[in-house]
Amino acid sequence: GADGGSAAEGGPKPLDELVVGFAQVGAESGWRTANTKDIQAAFEEAGIELKFSDAQQKQENQIKAIRSYIQQQVDVIAFSPVVETGWDAVLNEAKAAGIPVVLTDRAVDSKDESLYVSFLGSDFVLEGEKAGQWVLDEYADTTEPVEIIQLEGTTGAAPAIDRAEGFAEVIAENPNLEVVASQTGDFTRAGGKQVTEALLKSNPGVDLIYAHNDDMGLGAIEAIEAAGLVPGEDIKIVTVDAVKDGMQALADGKINFIVECSPLLGAQLIEIITQVNDGETPEKRIVTEETTFTQEQAIEALPDRQY
Ligand code: AHR
Repeated sequence: GADGGSAAEGGPKPLDELVVGFAQVGAESGWRTANTKDIQAAFEEAGIELKFSDAQQKQENQIKAIRSYIQQQVDVIAFSPVVETGWDAVLNEAKAAGIPVVLTDRAVDSKDESLYVSFLGSDFVLEGEKAGQWVLDEYADTTEPVEIIQLEGTTGAAPAIDRAEGFAEVIAENPNLEVVASQTGDFTRAGGKQVTEALLKSNPGVDLIYAHNDDMGLGAIEAIEAAGLVPGEDIKIVTVDAVKDGMQALADGKINFIVECSPLLGAQLIEIITQVNDGETPEKRIVTEETTFTQEQAIEALPDRQY
C-alpha cells in the first residue's frame, strides 16, 4: 500500500488499508462485462480498494498496467492474461518487488509456478470436452460426414487454445465429425458475425458451428439469418459461457447447447487476497464449478439468470 511493503511481509493489514491492482482483459464480451461487475462489487463489499484497468485485449496494455501497479506498490496484483505466453519478465518484476500475483480466469503458460500465488478460474479443456460430447451424442447415428465450423476465441488465449483442444479430442471418436474451417472471432459478436459470413460462403454445406463463446455464437446467428437460413435448425450452434443473451437465444431455439463458464469470480478472489494478507498460502489452483444447458434447461434457468 501507500506506506510501502506488501501484505505478505508486514503482517496482516486492515482490509480498508489494502490496495489491489486488477488488470482486466477488456470488455470484449457479455461474459467479461459480468466478470468485471462481479469483481468490482466484491471489492466494494469487502471494503478493499481496487485499482482497475481495461487492456482492450492487448497484452502490451496489460503489461503497462501491471508495471504501474508495481510502481504504486499495491499489496496484491490480480490479472486475467489476454494471452498465455510472454509474462515471465513482468511477473519477475512483481516478484522482485515482493508483490503477490493472483491469476483469475485465464492461465499463463510459464514453467515457473513461483510467479503467481494462485490461479482461480475454469477448466477450459473440460468445457471444450463438454461441447464435443454434446456434438458426439447429437450425431451418434449419423453415417454421413458432419461439417463443423469452429469460431475460435482470441488467438493465443488460454480459453481459445483449451476449448479447441478439448473439443477436438472428444469429436475424434467419430470420424464423420469434421472441422472444415476454424478461425478466430476474437471473442466478440462482430468478429463472430464477420467470420461466419465469410465461412458460410466457402462452406455452404456446414451443419454445425462451435463458437468458443456466446457472443461469437450470437454474431453467427445474425450471419446465418442474413443468409436466409434458420439458426438452431439448418445450422446447429454450440457455445460456451451461458450469459443472459446466450441463454435467451438457447431458449428461443437459435442455439442448441451451451457449456457454462462462470464469470462470478469476485468472492473467491477476495478470499484469496484475504488469505495472502493473513500470511496464509492459498490453494495453487481453484477450479470454478460449472454446468451445461440444453434448450429446455435454458427456459427454466432464464428467469433467475443474473448476468
Ligand atoms: O476467459 C473467458 C472467456 O473470455 C469467455 O468465455 C469469453 O466470453 C471471454 O471473452
